Amino acid sequence: MTALVEISGLRKAFRGVRALDGVSLALRAGEVHCLAGENGAGKSTLIRILTGALKRDAGEYRVDGTPMPHTLTPAAARVAGIGAVYQELSLLPDLSVAENLLMGRLPARSGILDRRSLRDQARAKLARVGLEDLDTAVPVAAFPAATRQLVEIAKVLGDDPRVLIFDEPTTALSGAEAEALLRRITGLRDEGVAVLYVSHRLEEMFEIGDRVTVLRDGAVTRTGAMHEFTEDSLISAMVGRDVEELYPAAAGRSESAAPLLKVRGLRPPGSAHAVDLDVRAGEIVGIAGLLGAGRSELLRAIFGADRPLAGTVEVEGKPVPTGRPRDAVRAGIGLLSEDRKELGLLPELTIRDNVSVASLTAIGKRGLMSRRREAERVDSVLDSLRLRAGSYDQPVSTLSGGNQQKVLLARWLVTDVRVLLFDEPTKGVDVGAKAELYTLIGDLAARGFAVVVVSSYLPELLGLVDRIVVLRRGAVVGDVPAAEATEEGLLTLASTGRANGAA
Ligand SMILES: Nc1ncnc2c1ncn2[C@@H]1O[C@H](COP(=O)(O)OP(=O)(O)OP(=O)(O)O)[C@@H](O)[C@H]1O
Ligand SMILES: [Mg+2]
Repeated sequence: MTALVEISGLRKAFRGVRALDGVSLALRAGEVHCLAGENGAGKSTLIRILTGALKRDAGEYRVDGTPMPHTLTPAAARVAGIGAVYQELSLLPDLSVAENLLMGRLPARSGILDRRSLRDQARAKLARVGLEDLDTAVPVAAFPAATRQLVEIAKVLGDDPRVLIFDEPTTALSGAEAEALLRRITGLRDEGVAVLYVSHRLEEMFEIGDRVTVLRDGAVTRTGAMHEFTEDSLISAMVGRDVEELYPAAAGRSESAAPLLKVRGLRPPGSAHAVDLDVRAGEIVGIAGLLGAGRSELLRAIFGADRPLAGTVEVEGKPVPTGRPRDAVRAGIGLLSEDRKELGLLPELTIRDNVSVASLTAIGKRGLMSRRREAERVDSVLDSLRLRAGSYDQPVSTLSGGNQQKVLLARWLVTDVRVLLFDEPTKGVDVGAKAELYTLIGDLAARGFAVVVVSSYLPELLGLVDRIVVLRRGAVVGDVPAAEATEEGLLTLASTGRANGAA
């Protein structure tokens, strides 16, 4: 089979950081080619060069035999048949679905925007991703992440690409939605599209991948048919060391009897249900549920990011005023939000400052000496998360997606909060760092923290937490010890609200 996309000797450096160091790869029509590698390995950089979003420093790039010039623009790459769905979506949140889908080619009749035609064209595009019933006049911001993701894909498919590139498309999706997307991707492959697929979920790669290329520090370490790899050999190729070293033994833990976090009758805005939740010191509680079940909303209401309609929150028996994050932090509650842009990073500040920002007030009280100790603590947490950066003094905006997520995590790992709420903590985080993160979370619990983890990724919840609370439409429909829970049982609970007969 001849390659549709061929690159060889591709190089790209950012101010001394060698992001790509001589990468060669052949992508064939009708294959799903996975691109694997740790955070910062160079995956997104490679993709941005393929789509013309970024100029390469050196190397060859051909599409169907035609050389792509050094000056390749995104428009020219689209014409050549390259389509991409990026890690950070490109949709404009305040524009409607239809406007986003048809941006730059809005239908007009005698100079007036033709609303009906706009809607019909948008509908036709949405039908390709199973969203034909979506209200196309509503701003994109009003829809959940999974829907926005599909709108983005519909937009790219509208250009009829011969090559489709996905950069971590399933991180914001629930299990069922991710599965549906994977089916769509293999369907496109079967129609002859060449697919380049980036994900940190190994089982996805094994499910849909025909071949895989592994990047490490900007260079290809291995490439071959997917079936030539096992999970362990794939991980080793990515991280450059043996898998056993990745999973150190968990620290022993004992839970206290009294709850550290006590939530009673809490109703997040827009919810008809009141939620009770107890988390003891030393306990890790997972929250499962389908998209839209109110998991993030619950965390945000506990933290005060949204003002709850009713209910109380207590930490160590003391009431926490609701509705203001400042009060929550003072009471010892921290939230890692799912949306890193919102409660997230300060792009102009350095990596180190982005980590210490949450604990700055505390440092002020403790004085200058402890500021240095704080910096050491920050560095050691970042080291343990395997943050890939030239220096921790560089702006956080220069980091790869997964490395930015690690900075947000580190922020809460170095504070004095006792209750940590994690919303999709491993979103975009590579397999090696995930193992480190699980260990860190386990250690926090061992030190007496109360931890709550929301994750759409059930294998992760089952492996990490002690107990799983299942939400459905804002209400608690189950509370299951992790040791007794199964993926099927949790899914049944989450979708029907009832335990299935066997469980
Ligand atoms: N604009 C930039 N300025 C400076 N460095 C950059 C820039 N963009 C990327 N880098 C660096 O290039 C390297 C590769 O980044 P890239 O985003 O390609 O990684 P990735 O493999 O996509 O990682 P992830 O899995 O976290 O998304 C990283 O070290 C990153 O910090
Ligand atoms: Mg990336």
